[in-house]
Amino acid sequence: MVLLWSLDVGIWSFRLPRHPPLAPRLAFDITAAVSILGGMKIFVCGGAGYIGSICVEELLNAGHEVTVFDNLSKGHRDAVDPRAGFVNGDLGDLEQTRQALRAAGPDAVMHFAAASLVPESMLHPSKYFRNNVANGINLLDAMVDCGVKRLVFSSTCALFGTPERVPMTEELPVRPLSPYGQSKAMFEQMLRWYEQIHGIQYVNLRYFNAAGASQRFGEDHRPETHLIPNVLAVALGKKEQVEIYGTDYMTPDGTCVRDYIHIVDLAAAHILALQSRQSVSYNLGSGDGYTVKQVVEACRRVTGLPIPAVERPRRPGDPPKLVASSKKIASELGWKPKFQKLTDIVASAWAWHRAHPNGYGG
Ligand SMILES: NC(=O)c1ccc[n+]([C@@H]2O[C@H](COP(=O)([O-])OP(=O)(O)OC[C@H]3O[C@@H](n4cnc5c(N)ncnc54)[C@H](O)[C@@H]3O)[C@@H](O)[C@H]2O)c1
Repeated sequence: MVLLWSLDVGIWSFRLPRHPPLAPRLAFDITAAVSILGGMKIFVCGGAGYIGSICVEELLNAGHEVTVFDNLSKGHRDAVDPRAGFVNGDLGDLEQTRQALRAAGPDAVMHFAAASLVPESMLHPSKYFRNNVANGINLLDAMVDCGVKRLVFSSTCALFGTPERVPMTEELPVRPLSPYGQSKAMFEQMLRWYEQIHGIQYVNLRYFNAAGASQRFGEDHRPETHLIPNVLAVALGKKEQVEIYGTDYMTPDGTCVRDYIHIVDLAAAHILALQSRQSVSYNLGSGDGYTVKQVVEACRRVTGLPIPAVERPRRPGDPPKLVASSKKIASELGWKPKFQKLTDIVASAWAWHRAHPNGYGG
């Protein structure tokens, strides 16, 4: 029996060479095993932000070693798990990014760092193309220079624009309606060439609406544009009322339908993505759609508070219905959401916001 180590793909394989027709090729992917058992070094760009912070926590819980690289433009130092290394660095600085990557010597990079406010991107497209595309090139070039070959990228369902059908599968045409969505689509396109030319293997995770919290870390965007934290801000007495934009869509109660995925389920998908041996894109949501009014109602049930709401006209560019098909990641990586009930997602967010009424600010 011959034991082979293939450096470029990180695979141990056992082969019985004498009897080729009978030789069962028992391939054992050590990267897959290590990603489950822990022990990989992961460089997390944007690990002080909402999703990054909880992915870092879950990576550490799984036994991985983590270095967070974040310029704290939107993230919070207190959101970085103390078990992780931290570099206050900016992807806009190629040399700084390269040095941090070289010092960390990771097996893989997770790339959460981005500007991600759709309305802002409609006013300041250059900020989005600069940070999400040009600064992303710095990260990719630093990976090439340091020989890091694996990337998990935070992409978005916004690259599909208004979909032709739901649930949304990966084959739908990419037709973003904003510079934000376009910037993510451009990064995905660039990745195809970095794979072909430099051998960087990537997994694009196209999230739907991330929501909820872990026990320690939660959502503190400034400004906050996401529905659940905004509804809970009313429950906390920080805002007077919830604004519901558009009540005349072709949906069960006239309000927009969205897919909410629990942040811990999202983090689990990132850890599974480390096992992938191919470059691939996955849509990532719970697969269940809820209207805005149903979300407000779920928040009322969880908090036991009335939460006043006012109805406003539609906002331009809001697709009526965005619901993921996550069948591909379920069948290829075995991902399965654990927290599918909307009230469970809201309850975790509520617990965190009650414990941190000022977010990471105190
Ligand atoms: N929140 C969602 O529901 C959602 C949905 C789809 C996609 N996404 C994507 O997921 C990723 C994470 O989202 P989030 O909600 O955690 O956002 P976030 O703003 O909370 O986190 C982003 C982090 O990246 C850091 N960052 C930004 N630019 C940087 C740079 N140039 N150098 C170093 N650090 C930088 C910020 O300081 C912040 O900590 C983003 O790429 C976003 O586009 C989020």
